[in-house]
Amino acid sequence: MSAMAASDEAAIAQTAALFDAPAPALEAIARDLTRQMARGLAGEPSSLKMLRTFTRQPSGRERGRVVVVDWGGTKARAGLIELGGDGSVRTVAEEALTFSEADKRGAPEPVFDLIAAAVGRVAPTRGVEAAPLGFIYSYPARLERIDRAVALASTKGWRLKGLEGRDVAALLGAALRRAGLERVALTAVANDTVAALMLQSYRARGRDAGARPADVGLILGTGTNQAADLGPAGIRNLESGNFDGVAAVETPYDAALDRELDEPRPGAQRFEKMVSGHYLGEILRRVLQDLGQRTAWFHWLASPALATPHALDSAHLSRIAADRTVGLDDVAALLRALGVPSTVEERHGVRTLGGAIARRAARLVGAALVGTLRFLDAALADRRTIAVDGSLWAGYPGFEALVRETMVELLGGERASRIEAVYVKDSTSAGAAVIAAVAAAQRSEGCSSA
Ligand code: GLC
Repeated sequence: MSAMAASDEAAIAQTAALFDAPAPALEAIARDLTRQMARGLAGEPSSLKMLRTFTRQPSGRERGRVVVVDWGGTKARAGLIELGGDGSVRTVAEEALTFSEADKRGAPEPVFDLIAAAVGRVAPTRGVEAAPLGFIYSYPARLERIDRAVALASTKGWRLKGLEGRDVAALLGAALRRAGLERVALTAVANDTVAALMLQSYRARGRDAGARPADVGLILGTGTNQAADLGPAGIRNLESGNFDGVAAVETPYDAALDRELDEPRPGAQRFEKMVSGHYLGEILRRVLQDLGQRTAWFHWLASPALATPHALDSAHLSRIAADRTVGLDDVAALLRALGVPSTVEERHGVRTLGGAIARRAARLVGAALVGTLRFLDAALADRRTIAVDGSLWAGYPGFEALVRETMVELLGGERASRIEAVYVKDSTSAGAAVIAAVAAAQRSEGCSSA
């Protein structure tokens, strides 16, 4: 083993270096993203969909109880949220549900029925007023109104039969009726990035009516995506997970992952496949598998831990990065739980590789944010606020610092210092309530002016 060690160590270092994302490459990526935003907005070919959201920024004075549905990954939630009208939010009730792999591949109706049943468990049972519902659908959808969203091709491993082209708000409405919940009225549908943005604006303006609203909503969890307030063009859902200008920092592992997954199809969600929680563990698994074949280390192929796609996830990566012990004891425990014994050298190798993969992800996020912010204001003369949520942002040690460091590299310290990233924990349900309340206000203004 020790005779092999030097060259094996070199193989690991070389592999980790494949995930470097140097500043010039990131600068080109940022510029490409800005250009593709403009093209997407103009209806020209672009990997950025720039979808309309039909909502405006909140005033901060929104108030009342709203039923919310948050569906965007393996989990969904139904909740009852109370907005205080002063930037405050209270969760009155909440129910989580999980979906099986079979659910993800079946017909849409049973999934909507599960969600409607959860709504039934949290929705108010008394009162004469119909309860408004805000629905966060965190997959690509083309909104035609605030309460009509036509599903586009799904992401994050979902493939419901025949969902594409159907209005997800109508599907949820029908499921609510099947569940006997006619009084719950779907008033708004939106993306989770929009929920993060709107929640931050509501909080800031509720406390101080003159406060600046958030400019960008960023999700870094199972998937990744941005929404941005483009002023006259309104708040847009970029679907930036689909950004395809990533070739300069792509490794053979990324190319293989993209080719071999059938959902999302090859070529789709290229940025997301290099950045978000659904994929980072899988990239590491593929790297370890390859090095297991090429070196004396990581001979773990017999174990399901390395044989099964997605056996490693980003929570594992976060735990690996958080282990500060000399012997990497927690990494040892984690690998043991996955069925593999490890040497301390192997554990350090895993840590180096996982760190390189996560670092590239953070740097790509930094570059993408620079691209978006430059679209809003090429000189970056004003202060800007990014509202961020998601397990990767919150859970991976040092992720935020890596994103910030990248923005400083690309923009210089002074411009970067005008950009503030605010972590908006559990923003989806609370943001849904804000969006539904804003929609209700817009609707009543529409009525009174008509
Ligand atoms: C995926 C979805 C997008 C969502 C993001 C974060 O990229 O397509 O709609 O915002 O994940 O959940």
